[in-house]
Amino acid sequence: MFIVLEGIDGSGKTTQCARLTSYMAGKLGQDAVVATREPGGWEGGDALGKFAIGGDLCCGWSRVMLFLADRCEHVARVIAPSLEAGRIVLCDRYEASTLAYQVYGDPSMPEGSAGRFAAMSAAMGFPRPDAVLLLDISAEDAEVRLSARGGKDAFDASGKDFFERVRSGYLRQMESGKGGWILINAARSEDEVFSEIVLFIDKLLGNWAVRV
Ligand code: TYD
Repeated sequence: MFIVLEGIDGSGKTTQCARLTSYMAGKLGQDAVVATREPGGWEGGDALGKFAIGGDLCCGWSRVMLFLADRCEHVARVIAPSLEAGRIVLCDRYEASTLAYQVYGDPSMPEGSAGRFAAMSAAMGFPRPDAVLLLDISAEDAEVRLSARGGKDAFDASGKDFFERVRSGYLRQMESGKGGWILINAARSEDEVFSEIVLFIDKLLGNWAVRV
């Protein structure tokens, strides 16, 4: 089973991923769950991940392709083997991040880029998530949250408008009806958000039999 958490910076996604990993490992056993992240979720992937995020590039498609290269390695080395071994993969960001950040978030990307991205991504044959949990929060609330913990560099660098575009990019993907998307109101307390995630995960796991 393949579960992905998505959301803009400051949505609380990384904290919720860590809590969910412990919850599932407690329920199903440590070996049953593989927690990973993009970019850079593979051994040696840090340099590519850092360059994909912060590299000085002037063509939007270059950045898209760096995130795709990172994903190719991540899928080949971590995600696909774990799924084949019958494990549950919990991934902090995946394809939807690239579409939301690099395509919908970037006004310089030409009309039709979302469709082109979908075709490129399909050509790689990446595994499809069984569920994408979208931690939804306004850019304004996310910025307040990040300021409180002194980490709003991303907002200072990219601006609130960018994160509003990314948020709408996520919502458009959810509405485009591919299925498997769960919308979670992330503007609430950490515990409230986690309880809702657990409700959904318990339902999803059902009588999940772990074959490790
Ligand atoms: P990270 O420090 O992991 O932030 P977080 O824990 O909030 O996810 O940085 C991930 C950054 O990478 C984040 O700003 C979004 C960006 N990103 C993209 O722009 N496109 C992508 O395809 C992925 C996977 C991440």
